Amino acid sequence: AGTLREAAEGRLLVGAAVMSRRLDDRGLATLVAEQFNCLTGENEFKPAPIHPQPDRFNFEGADRIVAFAQAHDMEVIGHTLCWHSQSPRWMYQGPDGEPLSRDEALRNLEGHIDAVMGHFKGKVVGWDVVNEAISDAGDDHLRNTLARRAIGHDYIVKAFELAHEADPDAELYYNDYDNEQPEKREKTLRLIRELKAAGVRLDAVGMQCHFRLDEPDAPDLLDRAIAAYAAEGVKVMLTELDVDVLPRRTRGADVVTRERGGADPYRDGLPPEVAEAQARYYARIFEVVRKHPGVVTRVTFWGTHDGASWLNSFPVRGRTNHPLLWDRDLEPKPAFEAVLETLATP
Ligand code: G3I
Repeated sequence: AGTLREAAEGRLLVGAAVMSRRLDDRGLATLVAEQFNCLTGENEFKPAPIHPQPDRFNFEGADRIVAFAQAHDMEVIGHTLCWHSQSPRWMYQGPDGEPLSRDEALRNLEGHIDAVMGHFKGKVVGWDVVNEAISDAGDDHLRNTLARRAIGHDYIVKAFELAHEADPDAELYYNDYDNEQPEKREKTLRLIRELKAAGVRLDAVGMQCHFRLDEPDAPDLLDRAIAAYAAEGVKVMLTELDVDVLPRRTRGADVVTRERGGADPYRDGLPPEVAEAQARYYARIFEVVRKHPGVVTRVTFWGTHDGASWLNSFPVRGRTNHPLLWDRDLEPKPAFEAVLETLATP
């Protein structure tokens, strides 16, 4: 098989995050249609872009992604309904920044979920109902978000209940980053048990998998976390996979940008030995995926070619990262060959 979707056929959804406007590029659109069987909107389905005002919706970009997917026989994933970032203030806060009452905030959340899931009913196979709700540190396993301050600790349960009511056929996911790391894995297990005790539908845990080439233990941790989640009876999806090749930022953002040479070592291209190391890293991840058939049901890359990655502007703008399977000219990298070969191995 020459494409990812052919190699994964019938076994795995293999997806990419796209921004709708990038589909104007014919070359990129062709690549996406040929290689993937699943799309996630990189920003288009998020609460702030799609529902900026209480009575105003903006479905244009998301509709475009859905139409493209339908034209090319691909699934669509909805990302996301409830998140502390890219959410409109009015949803959980009053005019002076004070949290809304529980009832008001729940009404807003219900209105949002009903309208958005209703709009895409039958077109979106599953939703990241809640995104990144787990704390990075400390004993409190949940982040203190605006939604939590307004609604209370059970806002996650409520969001899942509302989502299930809005579209009983949609799969429902909980999505987060770093949840292969033991501390966050344990907090995630705790959340899964809370959701199950509340009796809500939870189909899968989304593991974002924003990995780094200088973090060699992540694939092993991924393997262990997948097994731990599977033991709770949920499926696992790798939802935002990429492999950052740049050095970690150790100093202030402005300093790093000024000294581009140090912070941006692969400005003129990725050296072959680094490209090969990245290919081995990707192969290792797909070997882990292969160890969990029927548990890992989707792998989505967070972008398509290296120029279209959020990692060129995070943690600082203006870096030249190379985290994905195609280079800036849409040529396949060694990482593409490695993923294809690992996928194609039974
Ligand atoms: O659309 C505006 C544009 O009108 C404006 O001119 C421009 C100026 O900065 O900003 C544009 O919006 C940006 C948007 O991406 C679209 O390009 C936002 O500033 C920028 O913050 C936003 O970044 C997105 C980020 O989520 C927001 O938190 C990234 O594209 C997107 O890749 C990233 O994705 C997240 C996942 O949703 C959740 N997991 C982590 C992942 C990476 O951060």
